[in-house]
Amino acid sequence: MCVYFTAKNMKLFRSYRWIPMAFVLACLTFFGSLLIQCPSSVNAVQKPEQVILNTTNTIALIWYWPFGMSYNLGANICHDLFEIPNCILVEDRSRFSEADFVIFHHRELSNGQQKLPVHLTRPQKQRWVWFSQECPENNLNMKPLAGHFNFTMSYRLDADITAPSGRLVPQNFGTGLTVEEFIPKDKSSLACWVVSNFSPHHKRTAVYNKLKTIIPVDVYGGAVNKRLDDKTLLPTISRCYFYLAFENSISRDYITEKFWYNALVGGAVPVVLGPPREQYEAVAPKDSFIHVDDFSSVEDLGEFLRKLAEDKQRYASYFNWRLKYTVEPNMWIKRTCEFCSKVSSLQTHKVYKDLDAWQRE
Ligand SMILES: *[C@@H]1O[C@H](CO)[C@@H](O)[C@H](O)[C@H]1NC(C)=O
Ligand SMILES: *[C@@H]1O[C@H](CO)[C@@H](O)[C@H](O)[C@H]1NC(C)=O
Repeated sequence: MCVYFTAKNMKLFRSYRWIPMAFVLACLTFFGSLLIQCPSSVNAVQKPEQVILNTTNTIALIWYWPFGMSYNLGANICHDLFEIPNCILVEDRSRFSEADFVIFHHRELSNGQQKLPVHLTRPQKQRWVWFSQECPENNLNMKPLAGHFNFTMSYRLDADITAPSGRLVPQNFGTGLTVEEFIPKDKSSLACWVVSNFSPHHKRTAVYNKLKTIIPVDVYGGAVNKRLDDKTLLPTISRCYFYLAFENSISRDYITEKFWYNALVGGAVPVVLGPPREQYEAVAPKDSFIHVDDFSSVEDLGEFLRKLAEDKQRYASYFNWRLKYTVEPNMWIKRTCEFCSKVSSLQTHKVYKDLDAWQRE
């Protein structure tokens, strides 16, 4: 399952001085605002200019919350939190007939907790958005969804709304910072891996089994009965030179929080196993990670990691990106606001006749 960034995680960041303050503040502000329960009437009083004009605003209705994790949408979260105009996000199902978009998260549809409101009369203008952060293998029961959706929201770069598990955003830290300040000081493990789902069929298992014969690999997680909680995950990873960001499924653009959160935020250089290098380079600088496919054998990879950890200067070069970027967590709500504010005038007809075929493309 996708790990969403939680407020708890965000608070934890404060104790890590190598994590840029700007990132911490941005995230605390974002999640703080989402989680603080302030009645919308208060917002309305404070921001009298925020009268919802249904003639100019696009309305996006969240039919139910992914994994039951709800956020306070306030009077106009798109405007109030992200300064994005012309889009109102609502969760009140009684506004179905007004809604320009209705968003359905796949997990709850596939396990039967939720159903598509096919019994309601769908207004002509209304588009349905299929939302999933899972790779094709984990999206079950796709067939009944064929022909119902107009848009997709996923980590895929070619989705109508691309909402990845993380992304780098340019940041101006000013001058005077050196890359060393971003590297955790107390490195004591060469390579670490956190794994909850250990299967002999995964490619990553074969790579791990070979790699551990070449270099020491510290393994944590449910698979080895060494679970790490929110408080211990990042401190543990920060002590590792390298983090094995091995995806459980090799799918196009499928780069998860293992890369964005565990490795990049945790302060270890990611060793990735997943889609081809070009797909990582489309979202992160080429010297911010090491790709398993860069090596003709796992032995070569192991030897490379061993030597790199000993070469301070070269190791530090894998942190160069930190002088220019911060990691932004999964922000599907913001991505929704951006999309909905832009497409109000979109007239094109689009239907996903076979969603399953699309996700497997
Ligand atoms: C705007 O919304 C109000 C209440 O939701 C409704 O009564 C009114 O008819 C709407 N106006 C337009 C132009 O859609
Ligand atoms: C959205 O999808 C529905 C269901 O297939 C379809 O009837 C409708 O025409 C589509 N709308 C647009 C604007 O593409």
